[in-house]
Amino acid sequence: MSDFTSNFWSGYVAIITIVSILACLLLLWFSGKAKAMTANDNTTGHVWDGDLREMNNPLPRWWVWLFILTIIFAGVYLALYPGLGSSTGTLGWTSLGEHQAELDKAQKELAPLYAKFSAMKPDELSKDANAMGIGERLFMNNCSQCHGSDARGSKGFPNLTDGDWLYGGTPEKITETITAGRIGNMPPMAAAVGSSDDVKNVANYVLSLSGSPHDSLRASLGKAKFGACAACHGIDGKGNPALGAPNLTDDIWLHGWGEGAIVSMINNGKVNQMPAQADKLSAAQIQVLASYVWGLSQSGTGRK
Ligand code: HEC
Ligand code: HEC
Repeated sequence: MSDFTSNFWSGYVAIITIVSILACLLLLWFSGKAKAMTANDNTTGHVWDGDLREMNNPLPRWWVWLFILTIIFAGVYLALYPGLGSSTGTLGWTSLGEHQAELDKAQKELAPLYAKFSAMKPDELSKDANAMGIGERLFMNNCSQCHGSDARGSKGFPNLTDGDWLYGGTPEKITETITAGRIGNMPPMAAAVGSSDDVKNVANYVLSLSGSPHDSLRASLGKAKFGACAACHGIDGKGNPALGAPNLTDDIWLHGWGEGAIVSMINNGKVNQMPAQADKLSAAQIQVLASYVWGLSQSGTGRK
């Protein structure tokens, strides 16, 4: 396979390869033929360290044969394997094919294991040490860069251990999230709320919902304006898992806590994406991962 659009470089590389091999042969032939200037005693006349004389002996037989063998090896190798420009070789070997074969083999070896897992329920799986070991490795390789190696997340990346869910925390919902990904979208809401004072008032009302420190006068003024938010976050502010709208009453903050953070959410909105994994992970791997994540939130250690 060639990444070039024309055949020029392929031919160029092939010619250099062939010329180099021919040059090796020529060198061998030449060094066998050429006569060095020798004195009568078969020395070349070069003398080192006072009495070390260079002899003009022919190359040892075994060495010449080794040389010829390497040239034959090169010829055979280039015929069988891709090496001569863009030639694919008669064996049809590719590094990609070898990689795929290794993957298929690993897949085959793991198949009975995953078949056993897929017959198990999430709560059984989350107690199976073998499955959870695999789940943890899958999580480290595919999820920890965003959710953290302890799955506790960070600003903008949800904590998966705390029993607080944007999209629902049942094994089915978690599987859905991992498979197809999620896009949380809160539009900028300032225009719908009113003046910047109104925005501050609503922010204080939101703080009051979780019993966080707030200005109670502003909160009472902001309450009426919360109608603009209720379509997604609910009249009571408890959120809506169908939209991924967070519960605003639980004092768990994905995008930062306090008046400033909430004012900025209202003014700027937020689009936050969990990338779909279906093209990277098999359904069986996702099932094990979902049970692993669900298990983390059930263990209670991460609950707030
Ligand atoms: C590129 C970063 C990124 C990677 C990689 C990633 N996630 Fe996420 N994930 C997110 C973001 C961001 C969200 C929040 C989406 C939102 O706010 O709507 C999220 C949300 C989730 C949720 C929903 C949480 C809830 O409260 O409902 C789950 C479950 C989840 N991720 C699991 C995983 C698993 C398992 C993996 C590994 C296969 C993974 N994520 C890989 C960024 C990532
Ligand atoms: C169209 C639906 C929608 C409307 C309307 C909406 N929100 Fe949101 N809001 C969301 C979504 C979805 C998120 C989560 C974004 C994400 O995925 O990270 C969010 C996040 C937030 C957050 C961050 C919560 C956290 O845990 O950090 C706050 C605060 C918030 N909204 C307040 C408001 C207020 C106040 C209003 C009304 C002025 C409002 N929202 C209107 C959908 C909405």
